[in-house]
Amino acid sequence: MSPSRILVVGSTGKTGRRIVRQLTGSGHQVRGASRRSDPPFDWTEPATWPEALRGIDAAYLSYHPDLAAPGAPDAISGLVSCAAELGVRHLVLLSGRGEQHAQHCEEIVRGSGLSHTLVRTSWFAQNFSEGHLLEPVLGGTIALPAGTVAEPFVDVDDIADVAVAALTDERHAGRLYELTGPRLLTFADAAAEMSAAAGRRIGYVAVAPEQFRATLTESVGPEYADLFTNLCTEVFDGRNASLGYGVQEALGREPRDFTDFCRTVAASGVWRP
Ligand SMILES: NC(=O)c1ccc[n+]([C@@H]2O[C@H](COP(=O)([O-])OP(=O)(O)OC[C@H]3O[C@@H](n4cnc5c(N)ncnc54)[C@H](OP(=O)(O)O)[C@@H]3O)[C@@H](O)[C@H]2O)c1
Repeated sequence: MSPSRILVVGSTGKTGRRIVRQLTGSGHQVRGASRRSDPPFDWTEPATWPEALRGIDAAYLSYHPDLAAPGAPDAISGLVSCAAELGVRHLVLLSGRGEQHAQHCEEIVRGSGLSHTLVRTSWFAQNFSEGHLLEPVLGGTIALPAGTVAEPFVDVDDIADVAVAALTDERHAGRLYELTGPRLLTFADAAAEMSAAAGRRIGYVAVAPEQFRATLTESVGPEYADLFTNLCTEVFDGRNASLGYGVQEALGREPRDFTDFCRTVAASGVWRP
């Protein structure tokens, strides 16, 4: 597959920007795609897709806001058809572990006839440092409808490493990788680790889904509140309380540990309020 022209959809996001950085650093021709790229790419505007896909050999697909969103199957299906028409050879789909709707989208890619790799991941550690949980961490309290469930938080640097391998090495074609971190932690465990690294108290409060939905509705509106609450209810029911071995299978090494993630983020100053 190498050297190739590679499209990274979601190029300004947590996974995409790392993938772009790595690919560019190793001399690949990379085209980033998001609403801010030139030309812009928008999942809600199919007319923007052909321009992004033309002349591309392999594409990384990170859907926004989530493969569980109502428009996702149609968008994935449409984009995959467009990619096939334009001669894209290989697709790498970022997917969510234990998410029924995400797995429906995986099936669309699997059934496309195109070469593909499915990268199915647990919760990102970087949700606490670059995502929607940074603000609660800075405020000192993370409130989620996650009870005492254990989650094997995955480091986004590992996702990027696997995605880059899948985009550039055909040995990953046809594979489904379940990426997790090397350890199960409850959210209380994760908060304790972040507290130790940050040198101040970061607490975790388990809230009921309805309370979570109500609070979220005030800040992001009912549509996102429903999507995110339903997602949490689904993935935090215990189904993901086990380790996956995708990092080991794809890269032949152990995944990064949550303690190392905490140490790196604390040293960067991001968790200083
Ligand atoms: N967070 C987790 O724990 C987790 C776990 C499993 C799976 N996932 C999946 O990961 C994906 C998100 O990946 P990420 O965390 O790397 O991204 P991210 O940090 O959430 O960033 C979103 C990216 O999508 C772009 N974007 C937003 N709206 C868009 C639109 N309408 N059309 C085109 N691009 C748009 C953004 O760029 P612009 O603003 O420039 O458009 C940005 O590049 C989601 O599909 C999610 O389901 C997340």
